[in-house]
Amino acid sequence: MTSLFSLPILSQQRIAPGIYSLELSTEGPFPARPGQFVDLKIPGKMLRRPISITDITEDRLILTYRVAGEGTAILSGMKPGEVLETLGPLGQGFVLPEESSHLLMVGGGIGTPPLIYLAKEALRQGHQVTVLFGFRSPADTLFQEELKAMGVDYHFAYDSEGENVVQLMQRLGLDDLPFFACGPMPMLKALCKAGSSDGQCSLEARMGCGFGACMGCSIKTRNGMQRVCKEGPVFSKEVLLWET
Ligand SMILES: Cc1cc2nc3c(=O)[nH]c(=O)nc-3n(C[C@H](O)[C@H](O)[C@H](O)COP(=O)(O)OP(=O)(O)OC[C@H]3O[C@@H](n4cnc5c(N)ncnc54)[C@H](O)[C@@H]3O)c2cc1C
Ligand code: FES
Repeated sequence: MTSLFSLPILSQQRIAPGIYSLELSTEGPFPARPGQFVDLKIPGKMLRRPISITDITEDRLILTYRVAGEGTAILSGMKPGEVLETLGPLGQGFVLPEESSHLLMVGGGIGTPPLIYLAKEALRQGHQVTVLFGFRSPADTLFQEELKAMGVDYHFAYDSEGENVVQLMQRLGLDDLPFFACGPMPMLKALCKAGSSDGQCSLEARMGCGFGACMGCSIKTRNGMQRVCKEGPVFSKEVLLWET
């Protein structure tokens, strides 16, 4: 159920150029599934900012964000002890198969955070997991320590070294695995074309309310107009229309 929480900031750390990890204190595990997001009230801004859930522990909610504009710049200046009004969990998350299988998690840039929580949950449920993350350059790498600690099979692709994450998937011969993806639209489009199995993609859209009331985030799909904040942000590849 979606609720409004007042969550104190425990820590805020710059983990790569322009990228911050934010830990918020929760009373018990935050009640969200992988692929869902929260909407943060930034001081001085009317519209909330949607951020995916990177991870959840017994007593903290972990988010990762890129400073993209004014709102996230203000967020990056907030200090431990300050409280963030947090609406969530929002949207539909990824759906893992019931039977244990080999699953592929494909992330690009700041689209990688929700796949950390998803990979952990998939491992917990007994799936074999391979993670493929793509970044602009090695300096932009995120989550290497987390992936190592999970003991999951992972590989990185770098634009600066002439390979993107879809090419990496093809080079490793993993294009027949069911995939779970989040990243820029051109990456998702190329992945859906190249991957021969089922796929689920987490999309971004400019959001107003964040909970299904304003229709501002609607996109055209094979199932008609769908709200990214409500029916999404995760959609199966079959329903997506790649019009752009
Ligand atoms: C479901 C979802 C999950 C997301 N998860 C993450 C995440 O984990 N980490 C991360 O860094 N970013 C994430 N984003 C993008 C993030 O919401 C935007 O970068 C952020 O809202 C920009 O706010 P700003 O004030 O800094 O930028 P500005 O450009 O100044 O924002 C102006 C307005 O546009 C909206 N806006 C701008 N860019 C986006 C965008 N890409 N998506 C939606 N609204 C936008 C803002 O909410 C605000 O109302 C997510 C977006 C969505 C829709
Ligand atoms: S942002 Fe209002 S319906 Fe999605």
